[in-house]
Amino acid sequence: MTDKFIITPNGPLKGDVHISGAKNAVLPVLAATLLTGQDCVVQNVPDLSDVEAMCGLLESLGAGTRWDREAGNLTVFSSGLERHEAAYEWVGKLRASFLIIGPMLARLGRAKVPLPGGCAIGSRPVDLHLKGLAALGADIEHAHGFISAKAEKLTGARIYLDFPSVGATESIMMAASLAQGQTILENCAVEPEIVDLANFLNAAGADIRGAGTDTVKINGTNGMRGITHSVIPDRIEAGTFMVAAALTRGDIRLTNVMADHLKPVTAKLKEVNVNVQETDFGLRVFHDNTLEVIAADIKTLPYPGFPTDMQALFMSLMATAAGTSIITETVFENRFMQVGELKRMGAEIKIESRSAVVEGVRKLAGTQVCASDLRAGAALMLAALTADGKTELNGANHIDRGYCNLDTRLNQLGADVRRIS
Ligand code: UD1
Repeated sequence: MTDKFIITPNGPLKGDVHISGAKNAVLPVLAATLLTGQDCVVQNVPDLSDVEAMCGLLESLGAGTRWDREAGNLTVFSSGLERHEAAYEWVGKLRASFLIIGPMLARLGRAKVPLPGGCAIGSRPVDLHLKGLAALGADIEHAHGFISAKAEKLTGARIYLDFPSVGATESIMMAASLAQGQTILENCAVEPEIVDLANFLNAAGADIRGAGTDTVKINGTNGMRGITHSVIPDRIEAGTFMVAAALTRGDIRLTNVMADHLKPVTAKLKEVNVNVQETDFGLRVFHDNTLEVIAADIKTLPYPGFPTDMQALFMSLMATAAGTSIITETVFENRFMQVGELKRMGAEIKIESRSAVVEGVRKLAGTQVCASDLRAGAALMLAALTADGKTELNGANHIDRGYCNLDTRLNQLGADVRRIS
């Protein structure tokens, strides 16, 4: 049995919140430490169960880790990397763990990795990662749920991604960093987490240009060195607190944020009559009740479009907004897992193919609901903050994968969320 939350509405949320380091930046950086064969210190590391699982995986391969959770510093001693086979026990826990395949291949010449687990939000294949590694010269086999990759040497190549996959861009950037010659990666992802990974790799001795644009050039190097790197703030965690301010008609100040990374979220909040101000300390998000929160259409897209990771959270906001919103999910094919649960809370939502038609109601009603995945769980938590009566939210483990103490941090802003173990 995992923990659950009891959420009692407690009025507008007010106060300051410090945003954690980004889950989606730290996980690829931890995989990339394997490329160096030396000690790397990663800073601003969020205290998440996904990070714990990634450490377990690195240790199972022979690397060492030391994590000072209080300080947010995680050291990886990657000289001990010796095993090329990753256990399902770890990889089944989080999809990002598949990212070790590129570094293992580059360091050891071979890697055997189970097909990944993680949030159940679609089929989430890894074909683009594998096409990229094959283009760099790897022999790839798929048998009994494992991918085996072998290469005596990796050689730079020109690679065009059919879709700008975040994970595939990261896998290829990492493997190509230790390949011979130049790799040109086209139609790649441009997310801020890609830029953060490129910054880590370049500081460790790689030669990557153009990260953050749709064409990245990687000149392979012979070896890399251990470094200290601080990961970027989590734009999705920031967006979650921004929606919490909007939903409760509160006033929250966010520190340790990069406003640029939040442009699509900020624009959508402003469109629905929520105030977002850039200030010296970060961002202030508030609703002053002069204009009601109104419906808006949303379409998820790769960055800099509206993030798919914010889709469920905005659906909670739109569920009680004035009017009808159409929310279209284009990145993942099965990412409306929160809809059934929101409807149990009284939301009026119809799914039509890849769109959800959300008819705003006056109020949601607290009941028993269950988190099916990370962002769906957080969306239900936020919806419960303003529902009528108590909500029992089961499946806290999903939320703990990607949020650092979300319950206690919401409580510090005035919420009433109790965790039951
Ligand atoms: C990353 C994020 C996740 C976010 C997503 C999109 C991490 C750890 N996770 O996931 O939070 O929601 O980006 O912003 O960074 N695809 C393929 N073949 C592949 C790879 C992907 O078809 O080889 C498809 C996926 O099924 C999906 C789409 O491409 O439909 C986007 O996936 P991708 O960008 O790779 O997301 P992840 O890296 O898994």
